[in-house]
Amino acid sequence: MTTRYRVEYALKSHRRDNFIEWIKGLLAVPFVLHSQPRVNPSPAENGVAWKAPSADTRSRYAEVFHDIEELVDDHIAHAEQGTVDQSKLKLLVPSVGTFWTKLPLERAFLANEERRAISARRFVAPSFNDVRLTLNSAQLMALVDDLKLITFDGDVTLYNDGGALSPDNPVIPRLIALLRADIHVGILTAAGYEEKNGVKYRERIYGLLDAVAASDLTEEQKKRRLILLGGESNYLLRYSSEAETGLEWVDEEEWQLDIMKALKDEDIHQFLDIAETVLRECIDMMRLPATILRKGKAVGMNPTPGKTLSREQLEEVVLAVQRTLMFAEVSQRIPFCAFNGGADVWVDIGDKRLGVVSLQTWLGGIHGRCTLHVGDQFLSLGHNDFKARLAATTVWIASPSETVEALDEYLELRRRASSCLGLT
Ligand code: IMP
Ligand code: MG
Repeated sequence: MTTRYRVEYALKSHRRDNFIEWIKGLLAVPFVLHSQPRVNPSPAENGVAWKAPSADTRSRYAEVFHDIEELVDDHIAHAEQGTVDQSKLKLLVPSVGTFWTKLPLERAFLANEERRAISARRFVAPSFNDVRLTLNSAQLMALVDDLKLITFDGDVTLYNDGGALSPDNPVIPRLIALLRADIHVGILTAAGYEEKNGVKYRERIYGLLDAVAASDLTEEQKKRRLILLGGESNYLLRYSSEAETGLEWVDEEEWQLDIMKALKDEDIHQFLDIAETVLRECIDMMRLPATILRKGKAVGMNPTPGKTLSREQLEEVVLAVQRTLMFAEVSQRIPFCAFNGGADVWVDIGDKRLGVVSLQTWLGGIHGRCTLHVGDQFLSLGHNDFKARLAATTVWIASPSETVEALDEYLELRRRASSCLGLT
């Protein structure tokens, strides 16, 4: 008999982050036991000194995060010794991945508690977003001294879906502050444009390019530190004040990983043919108002102008194409990424893990613990930022304004750390 668990798993596993769900479950216990809704909280009860109900809840939540922090430490220690299967956390959350750094979760919780008074809530338990933002803070805290490369997804992370980094985007001064701190800033987007003059990418990020041109950054900071890797891991450009578009193409020989250099054109072609066939079948079977766009290293399904596709339709297409490709013989030789872009579906050759590793290698060998990828797509199936976790620490945002908040948090942490050292 099919159990309810199996049904839930089949239907929802691709839409869950198991680590976050597990933490939510742990926080639900103190929420239920200590945050009971009270009709009329009274300052004094039976002569006993009054304590705000949230004080108890806060310390219980903090304890939970403290304990998880220790489990993460234990997991890291096992991973270093090659005994990750013995990690207690792995036992509790089998799908848990690599932690590139320790995570100061208790401190991160208290910082988020300060901002959003999570424990003061008596009717709404700690949510997915509470946990996600706490994990983000912990990751940013862990990177204060060590960040060398930060990569950003484009759509939804730096600008609205399908939009552009226009001059008024508040993320721009934050990106410039990172460049000024001699951190490499990369835009790592699935959007794949093959024009070597970078004209299409300029349309997406012109506000940043113009702001960098007008800034007081040194030539070294501009040219060596601002980079764009498009098509997941296919087209590399870097800032150039000499180029008309502000972007200069970097020759593949200079930066591509061997695995990408070794891809054969006929395999790529065959692979994209299969993906295209599945996309067309989905359009027919579900009568989708959509068209196919084929590129050199990608194939996409876009809604016809004036129409939108529902989440269910997009997810069905991604899962269908992913499943067929997984079993195709040619897929053994092709790294790929099939994802739901929010309004469209794409199958790309390459993925963001390869994108991050390409940049780390090209920049002289930057370690995963010194690299951060900021993105909005971190579910295991059908999301394209997910694979970056295999090469770097990550921060999971839900909108461009959250990216700005995360960068403000990070820059403030750095400022405080350097003022402690008497550097400012
Ligand atoms: P990202 O969020 O910056 O990774 O960009 C993803 C979005 O870029 C997709 O949802 C598409 O709308 C758009 N896009 C444009 N060209 C491509 C392509 O060649 N592959 C994947 N996505 C593309
Ligand atoms: Mg995105």
